Amino acid sequence: MCGIIGYLGAKRVVPVLLDGLKKLEYRGYDSAGIAVVEDSQLTVRRVKGKISLLEESIRSSPVDGKFGIGHTRWATHGSPSEENAHPHQDCTGSLVVVHNGIIENYLSLKKSLKEEGHKFLTETDTEVIVHLIEKYFQGRLEEATLKAVQELDGAFALAAISTQDPDKIVAAKMGPPIAVGLGDKEYFISSDINPILAYTRKIVFLEDEELAVIEPEGVSFKNFKGNKLKKTVDEITWSPLMIEKRGYKHFMLKEIFEQPQVVRDTLQGRISLERGKVLLEETGLSPQLLKAIKRMVIVACGTSYHAGLFGEYLLENLIQIPVEVEFSSEYRYRDFKVDEESLAVFISQSGETADTLAALRAVKERKGKSLAISNTVKSSIAREADGILYTHAGPEIGVAATKTFSAQMAALALLALYLAQLKRKIDKKATLTLIQELQRLPHKMEIILNAEKSLEKLAQSFLPYSHFLYLGRWISFPVALEGALKLKEISYIHAEAYPGGEMKHGPIALIDNQMPTLAVIPKDRVYEKMMSNISEVKTRNGHVLGVVFEDDEEIKDKVDEVIPIPVTDPLFTPFLTVLPLQLFAYYIATKRGADVDQPRNLAKSVTVE
Ligand code: M6R
Repeated sequence: MCGIIGYLGAKRVVPVLLDGLKKLEYRGYDSAGIAVVEDSQLTVRRVKGKISLLEESIRSSPVDGKFGIGHTRWATHGSPSEENAHPHQDCTGSLVVVHNGIIENYLSLKKSLKEEGHKFLTETDTEVIVHLIEKYFQGRLEEATLKAVQELDGAFALAAISTQDPDKIVAAKMGPPIAVGLGDKEYFISSDINPILAYTRKIVFLEDEELAVIEPEGVSFKNFKGNKLKKTVDEITWSPLMIEKRGYKHFMLKEIFEQPQVVRDTLQGRISLERGKVLLEETGLSPQLLKAIKRMVIVACGTSYHAGLFGEYLLENLIQIPVEVEFSSEYRYRDFKVDEESLAVFISQSGETADTLAALRAVKERKGKSLAISNTVKSSIAREADGILYTHAGPEIGVAATKTFSAQMAALALLALYLAQLKRKIDKKATLTLIQELQRLPHKMEIILNAEKSLEKLAQSFLPYSHFLYLGRWISFPVALEGALKLKEISYIHAEAYPGGEMKHGPIALIDNQMPTLAVIPKDRVYEKMMSNISEVKTRNGHVLGVVFEDDEEIKDKVDEVIPIPVTDPLFTPFLTVLPLQLFAYYIATKRGADVDQPRNLAKSVTVE
């Protein structure tokens, strides 16, 4: 949801900003811009469209500077256009601001600033920030920024520079993330750590209501009251290589293929075969507290919500307590209750999704206990929840989530087994059987991925279709939802997912020979039921592609196309069944010429409501 970048150091600033923006482009890509300063000269360059167009513009008419800031936008207020692209300038043309978030009171601020004589040139909410800083500017950028942020309602991560207070970048955070990179006499600010990692692994994460002042002598930190802060420097272990495509055509394909390793990494160090146990003391929630939990709610959005549904089926099966799954955007506005014996689990790969963060805060206000499952170290959700269980998927750059889904399922499987152990709902032998199978999953996943070419061929033959139905029941229902979401978001094809048994209550009316059905049918407790549902589709001239166990001979006459997967425990089939659906969506989308890594209208990290 917009990416911001800033650099001050000995390097020429433009290549550093452009390189950083390319790594942040997954956060938004409808317009982009930079502002750089050299010898009191401020140059702003903005374009509508992707970073490649900004690069082209700079190539054909070069700009240069000693320090500067940049932005890649996902539009909220004001259409994607050059005028609305950041950085935005004040009336004097000497001050610029980039911003990620939404200023909720921008209309009233705009009105009063206009009355005071400020000239507005854009439809954005951001422009009020630059005029407010201008209003309070008396020579020191950080002081003006501190005064300006007191008047802002809403969410913001911002960075400002001015020719009137040169060699300085001021960044402030209230909501969306800001990381500050500490290099060797060079400093960076960025919406995430990816652009910084090529230069330094020493990172300071700003908290809400904090401000960083970057100068050639170093970086100082203050809170919004103006008090100086001493911040911890984190050493990040992610390698810059993790954010390269490494020979794959798209990040999405690379990330699909990384899934076996991601599952291994997420399980690593958390299971002991010798002791037949899951070891999950790391979360920060005490075993006594977890043992006493009698109800759970899982709160998440998008793909993380689908992982949550998988968690629901698994937790109910293994620990037999009520588990509900809620969309963050709905849950935060519900009149929900929490009590001593309930645990709320928040799943978010980015750890910054605004709705999930707000739902977490709503639970905390009611004094509820919370656990986060996140892929992003020190993200807002990871920091604010009472406990944290990290997934080890590495950075996910493709806007469509793939490997983080598998990592979230692995984390949920660990959590479910750990709770079952604590609550004595499972004995050592049964735990051992399940953890052994968990460890076998990555190899089984590799078998499916190695058959990639057959999925590509299948996708080719389904290119002409504009509507798809996805069916699954019980633990395969979340997989059907996730398969349909992947197809929708990267290929822009209409896809609906239903629990197989619900189809007869309406969606069956859609079935004809123009609407193929992808059915997820591993041999589990609902296998026979799914067979009946497929037969209902076939009777109405529907074409069925079945994701089935490789040893399932019976199914072969019942579906039109068989997509085989290795046999696994019924509780873990989603780790395998989701892979062909991801590949199917990927190939349909790429063959249609869609930009799978940056699908239209989307952004990776949704930090606005
Ligand atoms: O970072 P989060 O896991 O909180 O993100 C949640 C959703 O925004 C995300 O899963 C989104 O639905 C993706 N586009 C799915 O591919």
